[in-house]
Amino acid sequence: MSKGLILKTSDNTENACYELGLFGADMLARDQVLMIEPGDKLFLLNVESNTLAGTFEATSNGGYRLVPDAWKGQYPYQVKIRQTNGQRIISQAKESLNQVNIRAHSLLHDFETDALHDLLQACGNGRQPTSPIAVPSADALHQIRRRLVKARRERGITRLDYDRPSLESTTLWDYPKQSYGRNPKGNNKYAGVTPAFIIYNLIKRYTLPGDLVVDPMCGSGTTIDVCREEGRRVRGYDIVPTRSDIIQNDARHIPLEDSSVDMIFIDSPYGDNIKYNDSPLSFGNISAEAEEFYDELEKVMIEAHRILKPGKVLGWLIGDQWVKHKFTPVGFKIYERLTRHFEPMDTISVTRRSQTSNTGMWHNRALRFNFYLRGFKYLHIVRKPSGEQSPQAAERQVKWAQYDRTSAKGT
Ligand SMILES: C[S@@+](CC[C@H](N)C(=O)[O-])C[C@H]1O[C@@H](n2cnc3c(N)ncnc32)[C@H](O)[C@@H]1O
Repeated sequence: MSKGLILKTSDNTENACYELGLFGADMLARDQVLMIEPGDKLFLLNVESNTLAGTFEATSNGGYRLVPDAWKGQYPYQVKIRQTNGQRIISQAKESLNQVNIRAHSLLHDFETDALHDLLQACGNGRQPTSPIAVPSADALHQIRRRLVKARRERGITRLDYDRPSLESTTLWDYPKQSYGRNPKGNNKYAGVTPAFIIYNLIKRYTLPGDLVVDPMCGSGTTIDVCREEGRRVRGYDIVPTRSDIIQNDARHIPLEDSSVDMIFIDSPYGDNIKYNDSPLSFGNISAEAEEFYDELEKVMIEAHRILKPGKVLGWLIGDQWVKHKFTPVGFKIYERLTRHFEPMDTISVTRRSQTSNTGMWHNRALRFNFYLRGFKYLHIVRKPSGEQSPQAAERQVKWAQYDRTSAKGT
């Protein structure tokens, strides 16, 4: 039983794949490539010529920079492949994959791999075609589609099993719902629950499968559920655990060794606006207007710094407060404390949608009494200094990027 993966290529990069006996990918397919094992089946989608070639066999585990210079380092997640005699190629590949509901860059079940292999065998040319590359017939696609629908139904697999968030490319993140996919992530009824999309984006960018992720204040367990589904090891703690896989613990003292953790995510209380529990140790019982709130959370930052490996990332989600005519810039104050210990990497603005004040009555009040409802939270992304310069900082010393107004076409 082997799984499969369709990797993408272009006219520029395709030949090197065959010459080197190597397929490569960038960050977008990193996790999937790293999960490939010898014997798994691979296909190559040329997104320019719109052709699909296969079937190839993986002869190595997926890894990082197996051939460091290949494609000038642009596709560092790589797997070695064996070309077999029976390879075939089809055209109108993207349309064909759409019709049978198979996606490039997502791991294929064994039955999907077999179906794709059979489609290529039934409809494709040899890989160096002398005649125009064949387009799969509507009938062949229809049969494969029916075969896949039946196999998915028998295994109880639905569209939700393939549902994954996209990776964010800007600093504005906006999610209309708390979770995605078939399995719930955390409990969307838990006051202050984190959108699972945030944790998904952080672990996809900053960790690899098998890495250890820690959430010292994990509430209803969203971090645990996201990490498990993506193959990360995870520890979740809370002062008052809500489920049996959450360990009871005060975030000021985390029972883990120095420099042992690959990423930390924290969505702390933002002050005393939500009553999480009665624990006298809960930060949710301290007002964000009091300096004590920041002093206590700084102890968590120091502890996070201790357990993180050098160079690894902490994401801290936090919102400002406006209560009884007083604005408290909680996000800036937390940022200031964080940067006493960590290097700033970025700050994301996350739209707030589901807070209790998102009602017509509150919007009305905000206008009548001339104040603003909180529309966003901050996600501060920082890293524990490693002693080494970050790649971005090294880059900046070499060249200074300046925006050229004369050639600008607008913003
Ligand atoms: C915003 S909630 C976290 C939500 C969580 N990420 C989720 O998705 O369900 C903040 C959590 O911090 C926890 N907490 C407050 N003080 C704590 C402390 N001293 N140590 C550990 N957890 C604490 C609260 O119990 C609460 O569950």
